[in-house]
Amino acid sequence: MARFTLPRDLYHGKGSLEALKSFKGERAMICVGGGSMKRFGFLDKAISYLKEAGFEVQLIENIEPDPSVETVMNGAKAMLDFKPDWIIAMGGGSPIDAAKAMWIKYEYPEITFEEMCKVFGIPELRKKAHFCAIPSTSGTATEVTAFSIITDYEKGIKYPVADYEITPDVAIVDPDLAETMPQKLVAHTGMDAMTHAVEAYVSTANSDYSDPLALHAIKMIQNDLVASYNGDMSKRATMHNAQCLAGMSFTNALLGIVHSMAHKTGAVFADLGAHIIHGAANAMYLPKVIAFNAKDETAKKRYGVIADFMGLGGANDDEKVKLLIAYLRKMNDDLNIPHCIKNYGLDSYPTENGFVPEEIFLERLPEIAKNAISDACTGSNPRQPSQEEMEKLLKCCYYDTEVDF
Ligand SMILES: NC(=O)c1ccc[n+]([C@@H]2O[C@H](COP(=O)([O-])OP(=O)(O)OC[C@H]3O[C@@H](n4cnc5c(N)ncnc54)[C@H](O)[C@@H]3O)[C@@H](O)[C@H]2O)c1
Ligand SMILES: [Zn+2]
Repeated sequence: MARFTLPRDLYHGKGSLEALKSFKGERAMICVGGGSMKRFGFLDKAISYLKEAGFEVQLIENIEPDPSVETVMNGAKAMLDFKPDWIIAMGGGSPIDAAKAMWIKYEYPEITFEEMCKVFGIPELRKKAHFCAIPSTSGTATEVTAFSIITDYEKGIKYPVADYEITPDVAIVDPDLAETMPQKLVAHTGMDAMTHAVEAYVSTANSDYSDPLALHAIKMIQNDLVASYNGDMSKRATMHNAQCLAGMSFTNALLGIVHSMAHKTGAVFADLGAHIIHGAANAMYLPKVIAFNAKDETAKKRYGVIADFMGLGGANDDEKVKLLIAYLRKMNDDLNIPHCIKNYGLDSYPTENGFVPEEIFLERLPEIAKNAISDACTGSNPRQPSQEEMEKLLKCCYYDTEVDF
């Protein structure tokens, strides 16, 4: 038996934030990040809509990018004091993911972070509160997914919390919120969405329900991302939908090792001064993983379908896979994203000498590879890599060398 789960309600289109006026309840806890929602007036709007609906409102502010276990635990304490019956998470993937994990801890104060990380092991929620997610970036699609990514900074590792229990009850996909994204955020989150759709389509858990969402999202991202990056606001709006469609697909079809590798390289070089931003990591690793996975016949055929759907040409599946890889690499160029870790600068832009020196990468490689293999996203990848293969693959992602194994 397979399961396909989405939020109960999805409001979309310009101005759909107003849907908050129709919510029913007494106390709403709004969770936001570092200030963009406040700065651009969306937080005030949300507060006034909820007050109009009769809610008492409290805020959890300053949730940091790539939220930590401590942030989750502190937020849950604030929720236990305020006792919200609605949790409204607004902003990028970071505050929404943090709020999802806070929700679990609020409903089950005794649960530990380790227990939360047991895949599909979350006890029944919604005994205290319902959850609404309002994304301001066009990539993670956490507003419709069963995932929350929390970083353990002691270990330098991102852990996915995964369970349909944390699929939000309501998603509000209002493109007004995405208009203020700076260019770099558009690029990174957009390639995150592309990776979600491609990984979901070739995942071993794909289905007739997830496939059309993935393919349509891929086509839309192909058509709209670069234009959105270059400032076309009508494309910015369609990208907001496209990333959400990709999310509807991958929350049910799951992901693959591009994400396993991105999760395990994201924060592991933080001591050198930067994170490898999630979407940028995906953009760099996706072409490499396609070459690796295409050794599996079923996956190769599916990449061929994607290439056909994108209209890339190619006489057979081998050619189609090559054209798909070339197309994605060209998108990285158009979006000013490097092709490999070696050329990934402190500011995330391509540079001769990236912020991760070769010797440090090689020293940490065995541990990173081991952690990537055990990531929750590896199980649904079409090809299961050995430790040796994962190390070789990560090396290709470091040096931008061809994957021929
Ligand atoms: N839960 C999931 O299914 C899922 C999927 C993919 C990624 N993730 C996780 O999500 C996180 C990344 O989320 P993200 O890429 O959305 O970025 P983010 O939430 O980390 O935000 C990045 C920065 O952009 C700013 N920002 C957000 N929206 C803005 C806007 N409209 N205008 C101006 N600035 C804005 C934020 O203040 C922040 O400084 C990572 O931790 C990643 O691992 C989760
Ligand atoms: Zn992602």
